[in-house]
Amino acid sequence: MSNTPRRNILELNNVSMNFGGLKAVDSLSFSIKEKEIVGLIGPNGAGKTTIFNCITQFYKNYDGDITLHKNDDSTIDLRDIHVTQVIDQGIARTFQNLELVPDLSVLDNVLVGAHNQYKTGIIKHILRFPAKKEEAQIRKKAIEILEFMGLNAIKDLYAKGQPYGIRKKIEIARTLMSNPQLIILDEPAAGLNDSETDELERLIYKIRDEFNTAIVLIEHDMGFVMNICERVCAINFGKFIAMDTPKKIQAHPEVQEAYLGKDD
Ligand SMILES: Nc1ncnc2c1ncn2[C@@H]1O[C@H](COP(=O)(O)OP(=O)(O)OP(=O)(O)O)[C@@H](O)[C@H]1O
Ligand SMILES: [Mg+2]
Repeated sequence: MSNTPRRNILELNNVSMNFGGLKAVDSLSFSIKEKEIVGLIGPNGAGKTTIFNCITQFYKNYDGDITLHKNDDSTIDLRDIHVTQVIDQGIARTFQNLELVPDLSVLDNVLVGAHNQYKTGIIKHILRFPAKKEEAQIRKKAIEILEFMGLNAIKDLYAKGQPYGIRKKIEIARTLMSNPQLIILDEPAAGLNDSETDELERLIYKIRDEFNTAIVLIEHDMGFVMNICERVCAINFGKFIAMDTPKKIQAHPEVQEAYLGKDD
């Protein structure tokens, strides 16, 4: 990696999110650089998924600001973006609980991730007017992504019935359809065995390099986080503890305290 400083692409500034009296996220500020692999860690209930839900505008009533600096140099206050349009701005995500359509094929599940790329309006699409060519291009891209992810051999099979590790890969494949600038993964290694976790690690590097995207991931598997992430942001009770290299985070007294008594 070159030594030129990388610009920030996502900035959270004093973000807070309350549920009734509970401060799930409490004045949190941190930023993600372009092509950076960042881990977000913290004990159960620390507020990690809530932060992802604020970034992706699933929750709108947070305090503070979440700003996206796009590749075209424009800056966007994500609050101005509807949850369904966040993907058009270059942010794609996977979920803590798998969200695939079980009765669609693997290929169709990946094609779902391309809905933002149909330039032809939906009516023309239904009439199948000039959409054929566009559809063929998008299909070709989906197949390339499935090849990239090592899923091509099962593209016509149903998503349901696929092993858990494969279904997780399908979800990641889907994020790649939207030309993301930032991919956010909620517990991508959860439920994977050791060899699947190793493979995921290699895939994440490959995605970063080939798709030029930053990746921010929530993960409880500390070995995985410390191996793969350039920087780790640690939180507890919704509050920022520290953001630093994996080594420094591991040695950080407050991080150790937050995890005291935990086996992982
Ligand atoms: N929709 C909601 N309504 C009310 N409380 C919520 C809601 N979502 C989360 N919380 C609460 O906010 C806090 C943070 O939850 P969150 O799911 O963000 O934690 P997390 O760090 O992702 O935890 P885990 O590691 O278990 O996935 C928890 O106390 C949780 O119970
Ligand atoms: Mg969570």
